Order: sequence, then C-alpha cells, then structure tokens
Amino acid sequence: MTPPTASPDHGIVQLRAAGVSLVLDLTGGTLPRVLHWGADPGPMDGAELDAFARAQAPQPIAFSVDGAVPVAILPEQSAGWLGTPGLVGNREGAQFSTAFTVREVRRELPAEDAAGGRLTVEAADEIAGLGLRLTVELTPQGLVRQRAELTNEGATPFALDALNLTLPVPAAATELLDFAGHHLRERAPQRTPFTQGIRMRESRTGRTGFDAAFLLIAGTAGFGARSGEVWGVHTAWSGNHRTFAERTFHAVSLLGSGEVLLSGEVRLAPGESYISPWQYGSYATGLDELAGRFHRWLRSRPGHPRRPRPVVINTWEAVYFDHDLGRLKALADAAAEVGAERFVLDDGWFGGRRDDRRGLGDWFVSPEVWPQGLGPLISHVNSLGMEFGLWVEPEMVNEESDLARAHPDWIMSTGDRLPGRSRHQQVLDLANPEAYAYILGCLDALLTEYPIAYFKWDHNRDLVEAGHPATGRAGVHDQTLAAYRLMDELRSRHPGLEIESCASGGARIDLEVLQRTDRVWVSDCNDALERQEIQRWTNLLLPLELMGTHVGPGTAHTTGRTHALDFRAGTALFGHFGIEWDIARATPEERKRLAAWIALHKELRPLLHSGTAVHADHPDPAVRLHGVVAADRSEAVFAVVATGSTELYPAGPVRLPGLDPDALYHVRPQAPGDVPEGPAERRHAMLPWWTPEGVTLRGAALAAAGVQLPALFPERLVLLRATRA
Ligand code: GLA
Repeated sequence: MTPPTASPDHGIVQLRAAGVSLVLDLTGGTLPRVLHWGADPGPMDGAELDAFARAQAPQPIAFSVDGAVPVAILPEQSAGWLGTPGLVGNREGAQFSTAFTVREVRRELPAEDAAGGRLTVEAADEIAGLGLRLTVELTPQGLVRQRAELTNEGATPFALDALNLTLPVPAAATELLDFAGHHLRERAPQRTPFTQGIRMRESRTGRTGFDAAFLLIAGTAGFGARSGEVWGVHTAWSGNHRTFAERTFHAVSLLGSGEVLLSGEVRLAPGESYISPWQYGSYATGLDELAGRFHRWLRSRPGHPRRPRPVVINTWEAVYFDHDLGRLKALADAAAEVGAERFVLDDGWFGGRRDDRRGLGDWFVSPEVWPQGLGPLISHVNSLGMEFGLWVEPEMVNEESDLARAHPDWIMSTGDRLPGRSRHQQVLDLANPEAYAYILGCLDALLTEYPIAYFKWDHNRDLVEAGHPATGRAGVHDQTLAAYRLMDELRSRHPGLEIESCASGGARIDLEVLQRTDRVWVSDCNDALERQEIQRWTNLLLPLELMGTHVGPGTAHTTGRTHALDFRAGTALFGHFGIEWDIARATPEERKRLAAWIALHKELRPLLHSGTAVHADHPDPAVRLHGVVAADRSEAVFAVVATGSTELYPAGPVRLPGLDPDALYHVRPQAPGDVPEGPAERRHAMLPWWTPEGVTLRGAALAAAGVQLPALFPERLVLLRATRA
C-alpha cells in the first residue's frame, strides 16, 4: 500500500459574481470541496478565507472514519464519504475506489471584481491509473457550471459505470422542487420535503424526457417565485441522466448529477477519455432570480438567436398528413395575411410517409405528393415574405422504409432481437459511421437544394434496448453524442440554419441540446390552460424567445377543451409565437383578431425576448400573474390569468413585481387582451374593470399593494402594460 502522493497546497479560492459566492477548498492536495455556494458575503482576503474554512470545517464524529469527512465536488470513499460515490468503475474488477491528488490548478480570474472565473483542476490517481480534469466555473451571471473529464492513464481498459458531480446546500434547505410529467404535460412540478436519504430522479429514455427532473431545487421552507433561498441544479444532457438530492445524518445536504451509463456502455481504452455532462447550479432568492441567472447566461452566448424571432405557422395540426399543394398555399396565404413570418412544413413530405407507420429514414421529397418537388411551395411561401422551415426526424427509422430494407443492421438493438416499436418506429444507430454519413448526406442535400431556413428536428420515441447491433454493446451515450455532432456539422455547413428541438413535444429540452438549437417545442399540447402551466415551468430554465408557443384551434386537438381566442393568443404571446391551426378555415373575425394579437406580439417582441421574467406569488391557486419587465425597467407587460374559478370573486388586488420601486409607472389594460372577455351572450353582464384609462403609481406601491383584479371567468386572461411615466 502506498499512501497518496503529497501534493502542493492550492489554497482556498473564492469566486464571486452577481451576488453569489463559490468558495472552494483546495488545501491538502485532495479534490476540491465547496465550502460555500450561496449569498455573497463580499470579498474575503487570505486570512479571512482561512478563518472561513476553519469555521466551515466538518465536525468529526464518533463511529465514522476518524477525522473530518469533507465532501468533494467528486466525492470519494477514500475521503470517508459513504454516500453516493462520485466515480464508479473498475479495471478488470479491481481499482474500484480512487484517491485523487491534485497535480495542478489553473485559475482564470477576470481582472474586474466579482465577474466570476474558472478553475481547471488537474488530478490523478497514479495507482488506479486515472487522470481527472475538473472544470469549475462561476459565470458573470452567478451561475455555477462544472464538468469532469476522466482519462484512462493505465495500460488496460477501465470500465466506467458512473461519474457524478455534486454541489452542497445548507441544512436550511428543507424543501425540494423537481418536475415530472408525460406527453402533453411536460415539466409538472412536484414538491417534497428534503429528508434524509436520496431523492433520485433518473431518465433512462435516451432523451432528456417528458418527466426529467429538468431542475432539482432545494430551498428554505415555503420558497416561492420572489422569496426564500433556493439552490437549483440542472443536468445538461439529452441522453440518460440522473439528478439527485442527498441528505445524510452528518449534516451533509447536496445536489448531484451525472449521466446514467448502461452496463458496459463506457469502457475507456488506454489513453481514452470520458467527458461528463455540464452540471449547472443557480443560487438565488426566489425562483424568478434563479431563472434569471439561466436566462442572462443563455442570452450572453455569442450564438444566442438575436434577430427578431419570426412568427411561425406550423402545418401539423392544420393538415396533418394531408399534403396538398393547393391547400398548403391557401394556408400560407392566410398565414401571411395575419402576419406570420415563417412557414414550417411538418411531417409527411418525404418517402412513403403518408401516415406515421412508414417512411422515416427516406429523406427524399415524395414524388407521389410533391411531383414538382418542394420548389413551388417554397417559392410561394418566400414570395409572401415568409421563410421556409421543414420537419425532420433524423435519428429515427421505420422498418417500412427503403433505408431499413437496405440496412437492417443500422437499427439500434441488442444484436439478436429488435426492440419493441414505439410510434411504429426504431432508432437508427448514428454511431455507425456509415449510417451517420448517409443521414448527414441526405439532410445536407436538402439544405443545399432548397432555401430552408429552419429544421423542426423531432425525436419521437424513447430508446429501449438501444445497442450497437454489430457488437451488442449499449449505445445511448454514443447516440447522444452522434446527434449533437450531426446538428453541429449541419450548422457549420449551413451557417444561419436554425433548429428547433422537438421530441414528441417537449421531451428534449436541456442546456446541451440548446448549444446547437434555437428554440424548443415546449409541448404537443396547445390547450392554453395546460400551456399556462407547462410554459410557466419551462420558463424556469429558458427565456421566452427560446420557447415555441402556438395558438391552436378553438377546441384543442389534444384535450378537447374549448377556449376563447384571446385566452389562446394571450397564452402564446409569452414565447416564440406561432400558429398551429388551419386558419384558412377560420372565420374572417377570428383571423382579424389573430392578426391583432400578432401585431401586439411583434410590438412587444423586443421586450418579451430581452426582459426579465417575473411571477407573483398569489394565495389563490387559480390566479396567475406573470410578466416581463424590461432590463432597464422602463416598461413591462403582465398577464393576469384565471386558470379556474377563483376562491374570492374578484380575487382581490394583485401585486406587480419587478418594477423600479422609485420610478413612476403608468399602468393600463393592454388591447386586444384588455377586457375580461366572456361568452358573447354574457357580455352585457360583464362588470366594468377598475380603470380602463389606467393609473400612475410608483413601482414600490405597485409591488406592495398592486392593482385590483377584474372579475374573470375561469380560463380567461387580461393584459396589463406598465410604462415608466
Ligand atoms: C411529434 C411532434 C409534433 C409533430 C409530429 C409529426 O409528435 O411533437 O409536433 O411534428 O411529431 O409526426
């Protein structure tokens, strides 16, 4: 037995940004420990940091390993940690436990004060033959980002089963919020107490998942949109992954995450490396601020979509598989008339794809339905001043396709049997270089032949028994990377191409797919009532300009509920606006009203797509108030929503959050959603609202006392606009 090699002392490092401090202990040569992730106590000098570390040092206890048990970002048993391990793997059955020592720490600290920074920690366990690089970053927006790269420095293969990274939270965080859901009901919140043990949320669907934890948030009792301390973690990965909260009797509470690796999936040959997903951590007071850090960080990326988000018409719910040039041209005419700017031709344009049982994989324009190719439709769309977008599902294949008939060995499987079908389809093994090259070639040819500005990129099934057929080895990890590579390659060959991440609605929404996509399809559910909820929680991670929100027909195809147009449009207003409705068959009045909403969206788009998202905590669960306040707080728009019948009638005043407390604002109802619309036959009975001409009040008064709500029917909304006077 050789003791761990002595290593230089890398001290205690404090990173500060936007009201957050991340204090890391790098003393003693072992892996970095987070001493503090939370409110910024201000800059601390060396002596203060030493004292801070002493004050935070874990208390040794009886009948644990002797001495203190510090928990590293990648926790190890060798340090006494007996909770969820940071690294699980072995070399031919041995080397099951590691004791990394730090070789080098590189610090990239910006010259300005409190602008965050990045540490790169190079560590190794020479006995286990492993190298480890940890990257820990605090972004200028106060977001923690970290990931690990593990390298096999030994002479034999190393089998990796798990690599988890953690962030500690204080014992004061006693409640957890995470997300569940299903198709048409993505990101449904669930709250639980944060008790001892592990709350483990795994997604083994081979995509991010409808029900992925999405964000796992620990907070002080009763935390809300604007109150309570909250610490949230997001796992940025579009394949299998886990996000967990763990609490032990040693007073350790932490949030962790990593990729879920199937048995044998990652086996590092000598010299090979594995890179973990990025883990993101956001600390804040209240959920709005937690979200704001993600939004500001996303918006600071050089590749963030900056030109105005074009209003979309998507053909799916309008025509489904009924691709008829005349009908689609009429739809384009109606769309252009109401103000649409991008026309997206959905599923059904290729190969034998006349229904959802066949054709996936044959990415050639169907001569049967499109005898002259897509040219005539695209020219028509372009002549109306709209861009053209096309639906694709590149990772999938139907057994009933020319592709599957020619290459049955390109379908992901265990090697000896095909997985069960889902939506009649199978998954193409994109880690197979031939399959990858084929699909890349097809998509590249389409983008070369036609002026396609946008792919709606779908992924309509979970990955079940998804292996490489030739070897019989699990392949979800490789598949996830291959899908990223395919998107990256197409974007680099066709600069300006925008991609929407869709997966049977919102099952692939995470910060890694968003590094190569410009918008997500939030849900297949266009029912505005369901959408209020789904969009509210999607907005916890993503700013509105990345969220696809469409106005559907009067009666929602996915729920059968009927809603007034103002409720549908006022819901879609808060996002990247679109239409998913056969408006060629809508009444002239409906089209006129829709056009008014689209005009309002275009007017508000600069505000909606750059401002700060705010939500009020209203005691009545049927009352929602959400809005967007301009970054300079010069203006804001709010929606007051009744999701059901309110307990009180009317529900009393509602506070308007996020305005400059010292500035005067003129607040007034905003047309066309300015009247508490009811059924036509009841309109005579509607009572006038408080003040159609508005009031002028300071932001502090609007936040403290608010404004009276109108008497709203269930499933209605009104809009308020605030402008600095
Ligand atoms: C998925 C998508 C829908 C639509 C269909 C087409 O369900 O989420 O929006 O594109 O596929 O088959």
